[in-house]
Amino acid sequence: MAIRTLAGMAAMLLASGIAHAAPRDPLAPTGRWSANTAGRAATPPMGWNSWNAFATDVDEEKVLASARKIVDSGLAAKGYRYVNLDEGWWDHRRADGRMLVRADKFPSARTADGATSFKPFTDRLHAMGLKAGIYTDLGRNTCAQAYGPNEPNLPRGSVLEREVGLYGHIERDIALYFGDWGFDYIKIDGCGLRAYGEESPLVRAGRHRALPPLLDLDSITRSNIPAVRAMFEQVKAALVRANPDGDYLLSLCIWGSADVRSWAKDVGNISRTSDDITPHWTRLLTNFDTAARRPLYAHPGSWNDPDMLFIGKGEFDADHLTEARSHFALWAMVSAPLLIGADLRTTPQSLMDIFGNAALIAIDQDPAGNQAVLAFDSDDFQILVKTLANGTKAVALFNRSAAPTEAILTAQHLKLRDDAEVTLTDLWTGAGTRFRKETRFKLAPHETLVFRAAGPRLLADGFYLSELPGIVNPAVDGVTSPMPDPMIHRAVVAWTNTRGAGQRPLYAGWGGAQADSTPYGRELAVAGRHFTAGLGVLANSRLEVRNPGYRRLTVSVGVDDSATDSARRVTFAVYGDRRLLATSAPLRRGAVAQPIEVNVTGVKMVELVARAPGAGNERLPIVWGDAAYRQ
Ligand code: GLA
Repeated sequence: MAIRTLAGMAAMLLASGIAHAAPRDPLAPTGRWSANTAGRAATPPMGWNSWNAFATDVDEEKVLASARKIVDSGLAAKGYRYVNLDEGWWDHRRADGRMLVRADKFPSARTADGATSFKPFTDRLHAMGLKAGIYTDLGRNTCAQAYGPNEPNLPRGSVLEREVGLYGHIERDIALYFGDWGFDYIKIDGCGLRAYGEESPLVRAGRHRALPPLLDLDSITRSNIPAVRAMFEQVKAALVRANPDGDYLLSLCIWGSADVRSWAKDVGNISRTSDDITPHWTRLLTNFDTAARRPLYAHPGSWNDPDMLFIGKGEFDADHLTEARSHFALWAMVSAPLLIGADLRTTPQSLMDIFGNAALIAIDQDPAGNQAVLAFDSDDFQILVKTLANGTKAVALFNRSAAPTEAILTAQHLKLRDDAEVTLTDLWTGAGTRFRKETRFKLAPHETLVFRAAGPRLLADGFYLSELPGIVNPAVDGVTSPMPDPMIHRAVVAWTNTRGAGQRPLYAGWGGAQADSTPYGRELAVAGRHFTAGLGVLANSRLEVRNPGYRRLTVSVGVDDSATDSARRVTFAVYGDRRLLATSAPLRRGAVAQPIEVNVTGVKMVELVARAPGAGNERLPIVWGDAAYRQ
């Protein structure tokens, strides 16, 4: 009887699928690249967005005028392709669920039956050789409804009619926007999942229905990470269905909340790493910092998004060309989307020339997709180096401070030999210079110098993996409890000024995998041996590394000297297309780095796995020292 009961239970479990639910070991090699490659983002998107110029006061003529300027000025020919509507386009949601366009502002959307359609609008953009972007929210309601309730062009009608976000309508809205209306790009905000709790004054006043918040910008523990991720996965699935040719771009806009830094790369094409940029220098520092230490989380198909360009306003207007140039150069270095936020009808030529700098556009759009790595770091000054597809480098010298400064660039920063000549080409002036070992530059306050650099590499027959973040994906980075990042500049925020206690450290991926540094920003070191090159990651991690055709992988592995735990042992394993190629002895902190060399000829996917059995791994940084692909 007992046996029959058990057998019966097993059959029931099998039928329900529960018996198959044994969790997969996340550190087991898969032989696959798990970061997103769906959608159209082999390089970061370029284009224009209405928000920084017009906020909700947007209309068809303003957008089309900027679109025409993009074509007529030659920016389109240089790669600016997307013309994106931000908030302000909607009228209301009809009782049957269909979204209606605000036809008094977008007259071409008028239809005889009143249903409205953006098809004529996207047709116009497509006929100009451009692509069209639209904007929505993952919740029922929007950002401006919560934070700018007196702004123009907010949705109108009853409580239900003003629910214009995707919540409960994902399938239908995506099919309408992409299938019927012909959009190519969608930005999805998260205010609807954040600002409409029971306690919201607008909810209390009966303006909107309550939606228990799934996101809390200030608290990871109060964000429902699996629920938010699942909704974005649902959107992605709908986009794939609505775009059989794969021509879509999914932009996540939840400002680094809900630990999106760890999963956006698997779902979307770009993902905001911070709250909104404002036209202030110190705010640029904040937004830049949220992306700059995340090169291993950007790859062809999925990019960090420190927000749109604010060139044209405030401290980035034509009276601040130094700052405006820095903004553009920095965004290009970190492979950020280049989305112009200026009213192009009135943008002075000096700023148009910045947008049109072909040499910097090429740095942003380099097909290798290696986000720049910090080669020198301080609060005042940074040096960023990006490895380009042809093996040469781009380097930016970034004076963050308000004082003029003198800076030294070394061949070592570039991972080039210091006994040979290095040539530099200034990407603003085209001027060339040469140096050996090191050279000095004077920089004005807030100035960024940016060069292409070429010379014999330190590794004559290959590259350090930290030079190639575009092919390294931290599929499992070992972070189990996300922590705020103390390295991000904390600006006085324009909308609160000095009310309250000020900006707290933001969540942006502290503890995640790093190039040439430990997860907590320290120099890589194993038993006193320092590594200027290498991958720093927490134990219980798995890195996927594409192999574009190298024959050998060489590395020295060990537990970083900064680990607080000296007892736990870490075993390092290298897999090639799921086959175990090499494994280390179990290593504790203080054990010398163990060299590993494996043949990876013909292998497509290398996986670097570091296992530390036992409880607790939060502070166990490990080192893939000098990890390199060689011929
Ligand atoms: C949020 C986004 C901005 C913009 C506004 C629109 O704040 O972060 O980029 O889209 O909403 O209301």
